[in-house]
Amino acid sequence: MSLLDMIQNSDQKMLPDHYKSLSVEEMEARVKELKDKMGSRIFIPGHHYQKDEVIQFADVTGDSLQLAQVSAKNSEAEYIVFCGVHFMAETADILTGDGQKVILPDMRAGCSMADMANIDQTERGWTEMQQTFGDTIIPLTYVNSTAAIKSFVGENGGATVTSSNAKKMLEWAFTQKERILFLPDQHLGRNTAYDLGIPLDAMAVWDPILERFEYGGDLSQVRVILWKGHCSVHENFTVGNIEDLRANDPDTAIIVHPECSREVVAKSDYAGSTKYIIETIGNAEAGTKWAVGTEMNLVNRLTKQHPDKEVFSLNPQMCPCLTMNRIDLPHLLWTMETIENDEVMNQISVEPEIAKWAEVALERMLERV
Ligand code: 13P
Ligand code: SF4
Repeated sequence: MSLLDMIQNSDQKMLPDHYKSLSVEEMEARVKELKDKMGSRIFIPGHHYQKDEVIQFADVTGDSLQLAQVSAKNSEAEYIVFCGVHFMAETADILTGDGQKVILPDMRAGCSMADMANIDQTERGWTEMQQTFGDTIIPLTYVNSTAAIKSFVGENGGATVTSSNAKKMLEWAFTQKERILFLPDQHLGRNTAYDLGIPLDAMAVWDPILERFEYGGDLSQVRVILWKGHCSVHENFTVGNIEDLRANDPDTAIIVHPECSREVVAKSDYAGSTKYIIETIGNAEAGTKWAVGTEMNLVNRLTKQHPDKEVFSLNPQMCPCLTMNRIDLPHLLWTMETIENDEVMNQISVEPEIAKWAEVALERMLERV
């Protein structure tokens, strides 16, 4: 079921009007009051791409791997108010105890990349791939995918990956089978496999809409099958942006997330996960200049946190991830007030049958990182 279907079938309510008339100061004071009042009953993880107005209330901030790890460890909180996107909240639900409720403050906070692979397409594609390659493929899915895809992967011997452990997970996968199917982000799959020495001509793209391979050569040479999905935010960084910057500002170092295309990664100075980007800029010398190819809320935060360095977006026209931005201060406050009134709204609850195999896929990753 896509996120849109889920929202249509859920009892998602719209933000009541009176929140729109509150000032920022009023909302901040109220969230703080509720957080103090409810103490450890509520836990708020916040992804690095979230807005500052909600990040200021996060108990922990992190990339998707770190948030999965802290969620797995937290057995205390009754409510986990997840400031991130839908697939992250599903992961938290899978990894936390039965009595804990995971809440997404706005159900519209999805991920366009995760929506690029649905379970029906995956099952049909898998059948075709088995006919083409026999039992030689292990599936890996980026955590930016639905719980149903994670479950499919777990049931078929595979695991999840994040941008900070993709290399390690691909290495492991090649000890299991001759070929890898990598869902749903072709760029992370291609960039990681390339770093491991797999030539580009040993990678085929699977088009789930046309249900065919995009590959010019002899399919028996293929080692990695890349699902034709991408992140619409990271695809906005282009080779043109890099060429402009190199021409006008050659002293600036370029650092990008591996959800950017192969061409962009190849022309950048550094590429790595959200955590890697934060650490590299954090450890850089004062006076250095950085053009960053990742989500805008994070780039703006890095600019503020490092006034001794020059940090800006690689694409001057860049916008934030719109679905990440759905989680804002009014929705956070509304969520906290409903919890205070013992109402459960926007709960993310993965069906047990799906959760069982999705957890296997997640644990295969967590035990290796
Ligand atoms: P990471 O947190 O794994 O770097 O993922 C980036 C992302 O796009 C999250 O949606
Ligand atoms: Fe999805 Fe890209 Fe937004 Fe991450 S940045 S949530 S991958 S659309």
